[in-house]
Amino acid sequence: MLSVENIDLYYGAAQALKGVSLKAEVGKVTCLMGRNGVGKTSTLRAVVGQHPVSSGRILWNGEDVSRLAPHARAKRGIAIVPQGREIFPLLTVKENLETGYACVPRKDRKIPETIFELFPVLKSMLSRRGGDLSGGQQQQLAIARALITRPKLLVLDEPTEGIQPSIIKDIGRAIEWLREQGEMAIVLVEQYFEFARDLADDFAVMDRGEVVMAGARADLEETRVRQHLTV
Ligand SMILES: Nc1ncnc2c1ncn2[C@@H]1O[C@H](COP(=O)(O)OP(=O)(O)OP(=O)(O)O)[C@@H](O)[C@H]1O
Ligand SMILES: [Mg+2]
Repeated sequence: MLSVENIDLYYGAAQALKGVSLKAEVGKVTCLMGRNGVGKTSTLRAVVGQHPVSSGRILWNGEDVSRLAPHARAKRGIAIVPQGREIFPLLTVKENLETGYACVPRKDRKIPETIFELFPVLKSMLSRRGGDLSGGQQQQLAIARALITRPKLLVLDEPTEGIQPSIIKDIGRAIEWLREQGEMAIVLVEQYFEFARDLADDFAVMDRGEVVMAGARADLEETRVRQHLTV
């Protein structure tokens, strides 16, 4: 399981995270909510190692990974679906998927068939350039690329942002399917309340660099959460 303990994170002199703590268990979806600029992405960057923390710890299955480089965390099964998708526009869909191979042992360097079961559209588009896909297809590709690494901890940063409703449903179903396999912990950053509520086993709400509410879905008080989501 993931245990983020009391982390601080700075960009230069500006403090983006103040004592953030967060837990995520295998077989569950933990939703991290909050309005623009409160520190959701910064929290994920800290977890995957894209930005250092200045204090606090990040434990993954009991090991302190807070000072490990991103590739070392990836080797331990930590994968991110970044905000804005970050697909390579000039690479084909297949090549985009293969970029995930770097942290996979040679024998596992093939595209798992489950990826095409989750996102059939990708199979028919393997030779298309990433940049030619629709936003929703690119999001599916970004999730698939993360799954190539066979993650044990998958963090997704606003996968529904700017995506049409039919594909949002597909993405929700894919996340549910991944949870049901019971093999990974999932942290989902989301501003779209209904999507988060329908998927969350546990949740945390951030405001101005801090976690202001957290608990199991049963404790999620819609009105209070919504107050933290509206401007
Ligand atoms: N690379 C950076 N350099 C300087 N400041 C940054 C950087 N990235 C984020 N920030 C600042 O840190 C704070 C938290 O940003 P962060 O991206 O974590 O928020 P967020 O909750 O993900 O927002 P959004 O919902 O818009 O994605 C904001 O004030 C933001 O302006
Ligand atoms: Mg963000």
